Amino acid sequence: MWLASSRFGAGGPTISAKQDGPERLHVRIAKSGLCSRRAAEKLIEEGRVEVNGKIVIEMGVKVTLDDEIRIDGKAIGIARHYTVLLYKPLGVLTTLDDPDRRPTIVRYLPDYGVQLKPVGRLDRDTEGLLLCTNDGELALRLAHPRYGIEKEYLAHVEGVVGEKALKKLRTGVFFEGRKSAPAQVEVAHVDEEKQITALRITIHEGRKRQVRMMCSGVGHEVKQLKRVRIGPFQLRGMRAGECILVGQKEVKELRKLVGLN
Ligand code: URA
Repeated sequence: MWLASSRFGAGGPTISAKQDGPERLHVRIAKSGLCSRRAAEKLIEEGRVEVNGKIVIEMGVKVTLDDEIRIDGKAIGIARHYTVLLYKPLGVLTTLDDPDRRPTIVRYLPDYGVQLKPVGRLDRDTEGLLLCTNDGELALRLAHPRYGIEKEYLAHVEGVVGEKALKKLRTGVFFEGRKSAPAQVEVAHVDEEKQITALRITIHEGRKRQVRMMCSGVGHEVKQLKRVRIGPFQLRGMRAGECILVGQKEVKELRKLVGLN
């Protein structure tokens, strides 16, 4: 398991999208954060991409940082990617803009001059680990259930959870038209006096209010919810509101985990 890498203020940010040598044109376009690799291939096919003033429509062309790339005549930048881990406090919205001016995650994110977007979301009344990045490719894959990134939660629920409910949580709970995918569910603690059970729930999906829906679906309302892990990243050791830059090495490993190089 990885713990946090560099904390802000300790040596400045690490840039995670360093390019070592020539790379394929569609990869470079995707890395600029404009679109996915597949969409970049489509742009090339459509004759909308220029390299050093010449339209390129064949696949497999390699470019370096010295090549000037334009899409529909507009130059693309050299992306600097930043990936951070935020301990989202309770009461804070996972959005970059709230028309009602309620507290959002923006106040906790560092200003790198790029837009760091949250990967998935945590409800306002859920606290815990949230990954934010301007690496569009990485964000897309991390959010996709196909890549099976685990999200682990500590849920305090009403009542003492019995074996039947546990089995249902593990095998799948039907809500909003379909069953949840199999989940790992363990009892972390039971407080018989207060009639509260602490459950450790690990899921791969990211449906809206998923953990709450699963638990209420088996008759146990969630009283408190905290995300304690995303893939290899643990919340342990972080303070509410703290934001940590993920180091270059960890970003590389994370990209590998979702099939990116
Ligand atoms: N499941 C929920 O119910 N809420 C969250 O914020 C995350 C997962």
